[in-house]
Amino acid sequence: SAAAAPPIDPIALVGPDLGDLKHNIGKLLSSQHPFVNTVAQHYFSGQGKHIRPLLVLLISQATSVTTQTAIRHDFETMDQPISHGLLNMTPTSLFNRQQHYTPNRTQGGCTVLPTQRRLAEITEMIHTASLLHDDVIDASLTRRNLPSANASFGNKMAVLGGDFLLARASLTLARLRNAECMEIMATCIANLVEGEFMQLKNTSDPDEDKSTFDHYMDKTYMKTGSLIAQSCKAAAVLGGCNDQVKSLAFDFGRHLGLAFQLIDDMLDFTVSAADLGKPAGADLKLGLATAPVLFAWEEYPELEDLIKRKFNKKGDAEKARRLVYQSNGLKRTMTLAEQHCQLAIDAIQQLPPSDAQAALIQLSKKSLTRKS
Ligand code: FPP
Ligand code: MG
Ligand code: MG
Repeated sequence: SAAAAPPIDPIALVGPDLGDLKHNIGKLLSSQHPFVNTVAQHYFSGQGKHIRPLLVLLISQATSVTTQTAIRHDFETMDQPISHGLLNMTPTSLFNRQQHYTPNRTQGGCTVLPTQRRLAEITEMIHTASLLHDDVIDASLTRRNLPSANASFGNKMAVLGGDFLLARASLTLARLRNAECMEIMATCIANLVEGEFMQLKNTSDPDEDKSTFDHYMDKTYMKTGSLIAQSCKAAAVLGGCNDQVKSLAFDFGRHLGLAFQLIDDMLDFTVSAADLGKPAGADLKLGLATAPVLFAWEEYPELEDLIKRKFNKKGDAEKARRLVYQSNGLKRTMTLAEQHCQLAIDAIQQLPPSDAQAALIQLSKKSLTRKS
């Protein structure tokens, strides 16, 4: 059999682009109101995993080998100063083009375009906006090992901070002057909200024609799969890829996103708050029945009542937790995550071989064994 492929360091492949990420986002978020800056940038001071921008950059590289002609973009608009509207303030130049403009970066035969680098930043901004809102909804006091934005500044400021992030993400997106990309990203912002609604109005309504588990997987796509899938697709769009490659990028992101959230829902049962950097065991307390509980329910029918009343009676959460541990729920959640991870790998393997492709496969496998 073939010798094991040498390990690839995904971070090294896109290191320079990823290295600029926080700095560039900081500039995109500059407001004349200093407190807006503070709240909107709060989560960028912690240790984010930056998994979404990392995927966007690697997908950009991996799909670049499918395009023959060099893409020319109109970069004129991308780095223009942001106008602050009616306030009589001089817009400060966001990017000194001489200093900051980084052209196409080629690494091992793969290329990242400036627009794709910007997309990675936009994706992280949208994700972070959703976290600001999520921590308000979940009344969560910690995130990335720091006090959450709502804990630090209150719910009102946290919501507004998220709105500001979303506004700047939209502005930045508009400046890429690509209507298809704009449409794709707007869709996933709507999906994030829809996913959150599906979660708030959760599970097993007997009138629904879908099973509880299908509803859970749909919700999981909306709240986590969509942003990853659509941002991967948008990277292929900006790279000028054909429809087949765009749809491969989408499928890769969708399956990896589903695997990612399944693991997240498993870790909520198996890992401490200290390791997660956010509250552990949060889902049951929020009344949420995720995959481990839904699988356990098949072995322990008595879980049905608890799930339906959202674990709101004293001792419900503890009992559900015990039954999950006794059941195969955690194992089956892992198996399902592994299946989606394999489907992600199957999608990406249809691209021509490259270091970036190998890195994406490696990253997919690693996402199954993460501990936080
Ligand atoms: C984290 O889930 C939350 C999400 C993946 C999406 C949240 C989306 C919204 C609040 C809708 C608003 C969206 C925008 C773009 C403003 P979790 O609570 O299960 O994970 P956690 O343990 O990290 O908190
Ligand atoms: Mg949450
Ligand atoms: Mg939540």
